[in-house]
Amino acid sequence: MPIALETKGLHKSFGGISACTDVSLRVARGARHALIGPNGAGKTTLINLLTGVLAPSAGRILLEGEDITGASSHARVRRGLARTFQLNQLFADFTPLESIGLAVSERLGHGGDWWRVAGSRLSLDADIVGVLERFRLADVMHARVATLPYGKQRLLEIALAIACQPRVLLLDEPAAGVPEDERHEILAAVTSLPREVTVLIIEHDMDIVFSFAERISVLVNGSLFVEGTPDEVGRDPRVKAVYLGEEAVDA
Ligand SMILES: Nc1ncnc2c1ncn2[C@@H]1O[C@H](COP(=O)(O)OP(=O)(O)O)[C@@H](O)[C@H]1O
Ligand SMILES: [Mg+2]
Repeated sequence: MPIALETKGLHKSFGGISACTDVSLRVARGARHALIGPNGAGKTTLINLLTGVLAPSAGRILLEGEDITGASSHARVRRGLARTFQLNQLFADFTPLESIGLAVSERLGHGGDWWRVAGSRLSLDADIVGVLERFRLADVMHARVATLPYGKQRLLEIALAIACQPRVLLLDEPAAGVPEDERHEILAAVTSLPREVTVLIIEHDMDIVFSFAERISVLVNGSLFVEGTPDEVGRDPRVKAVYLGEEAVDA
């Protein structure tokens, strides 16, 4: 099985704390792979290492066999590794149409001028409307992003990443903060992602993880602890113990 994304002996420490310890993870091409683990396990640190937000203390990261350990975040995106875009103030006053238009326009090399030069161009518009429809945003495409229900905002984050046509997509807690009754839309959106896009998802909602993922890696205290199919991981008493421990602490 060809490997889309791989880490070899990845380490990251913050002062005395090791947030990522000798992580060697392989994500197969076309995979629906989930990374789970209790709070503080190192999930966010690993995503930040993969996307180039953080530099590892040791180890390597390979994208389709090529070493990207020292590549900038932008260079990684250009090479096909995208993460879900975090909506920020900049986008609050945009509409979904404008946001996706900007992303598609950037990908096509038109830069930020799309609303002046290309806003009414049919080919570009068809591309944009296609993405909006796929992510159930067509009915709200003219609404200000800030006024959208939270679930729609999270859908827009995934849509923005897909508009860049990545080969590997990192989904960082796509359902975080989404009310229960909007979660099925998130699951439907990630389930309908094109199969040629390899997906690594971090998510707390175990219904989404176990419905979507075909492979699950469990991270505990910065180290890979267990990896297997949802069935194997779901039945593993060591995994249950880790999560039960967390519930006991939370309670
Ligand atoms: N910038 C940072 N500085 C110091 N410690 C950090 C930093 N980021 C994360 N950590 C520590 O690294 C560990 C892993 O954190 P994190 O990657 O956020 O875990 P998760 O996303 O799984 O909850 C935690 O002990 C956390 O306190
Ligand atoms: Mg986190």
